[in-house]
Amino acid sequence: MTLAIGVDIGGTKIAAGLVSETGQILDSVEEPTPEDASAIPVAVADLVERLTGEQDAVGIGIGAAGFVGEDRQTVRFAPNIDWREEPLGQRVQSLVKLPVVVENDANAAAWGEFSFGAGEDTDDDLLLITVGTGIGGGIVHHGQLYRGGFGVAAEIGHMRIVPDGILCGCGQRGCYEQYGSGSALVRDARERVLNEDPRAGAIAALGGGDPSRITGQELTKLAKDGDPLAVELLTELGRWIGEGAAVLATILDPSVIAIGGGVAAAGDLVLASVVEAFETHLPARAHRPQASLRLATLGNEAGIIGAADLARVEPV
Ligand code: BGC
Ligand code: NA
Ligand code: ZN
Repeated sequence: MTLAIGVDIGGTKIAAGLVSETGQILDSVEEPTPEDASAIPVAVADLVERLTGEQDAVGIGIGAAGFVGEDRQTVRFAPNIDWREEPLGQRVQSLVKLPVVVENDANAAAWGEFSFGAGEDTDDDLLLITVGTGIGGGIVHHGQLYRGGFGVAAEIGHMRIVPDGILCGCGQRGCYEQYGSGSALVRDARERVLNEDPRAGAIAALGGGDPSRITGQELTKLAKDGDPLAVELLTELGRWIGEGAAVLATILDPSVIAIGGGVAAAGDLVLASVVEAFETHLPARAHRPQASLRLATLGNEAGIIGAADLARVEPV
């Protein structure tokens, strides 16, 4: 059995796992993402070293939340981590023995879902929309990850969805991730508290009563418990996600659209409004087969599993 290591570098934590060729995680470790981005390569190398059985792996795949160049080593830019033309692959490579390949985090997750998760019933097309701190995208087309002409395809979080809307970390305004991400959800919840919305009582108690500490997980849990405003905020989030999904389907015509990332934990609560908005906004809907919209199934492990598999099947 061929093993590989997958690493997922997100805005809040770095997780690493030793993964089998059937997508099973045999061992995993994690730690908070260092505030200073220059400390990330050492943190990654430490995590890799802590994995039991590390020496039996054939390579390391790193999923990174940014625009990864076609060399599959350099993070050209990241809106939510301080990376600019960051030679992440080379930096980690200088600290470890196994060959390193860097992928966009959402591409890695899409590959994981396609191979072992939400896409297991298709061997052709899948679009993954991951909703967390930002919105990430991954496109599998004809059984292969689509990276575009320069490596940075599927940066769907930066598709303009509102003309001259909210300023984004990428420098543009009105990006999809400013409306449909976990950060957008939390921002809207905080606003309700700060504006003393009379329905925000339960939300105001989150984050230990400190609005700046409210999290997406807490909001999801509150909505699941039936708090009307939390349900409304998640429904609204789903609506944005669904509108964007309709635009993407117009371009890509995928057979499967999977929704992943932290928000997938909200389950049908959010999926129902994603589907409704998707159907409302899909052009010529009555005259075309409709993509199967579904929740991703690998949860937070999709990135690790996908990155590891890519290191095995597509080494640099
Ligand atoms: C970044 C993407 C990333 C996504 C999810 C976006 O802000 O531009 O590169 O895939 O967040 O982490
Ligand atoms: Na991507
Ligand atoms: Zn943007």
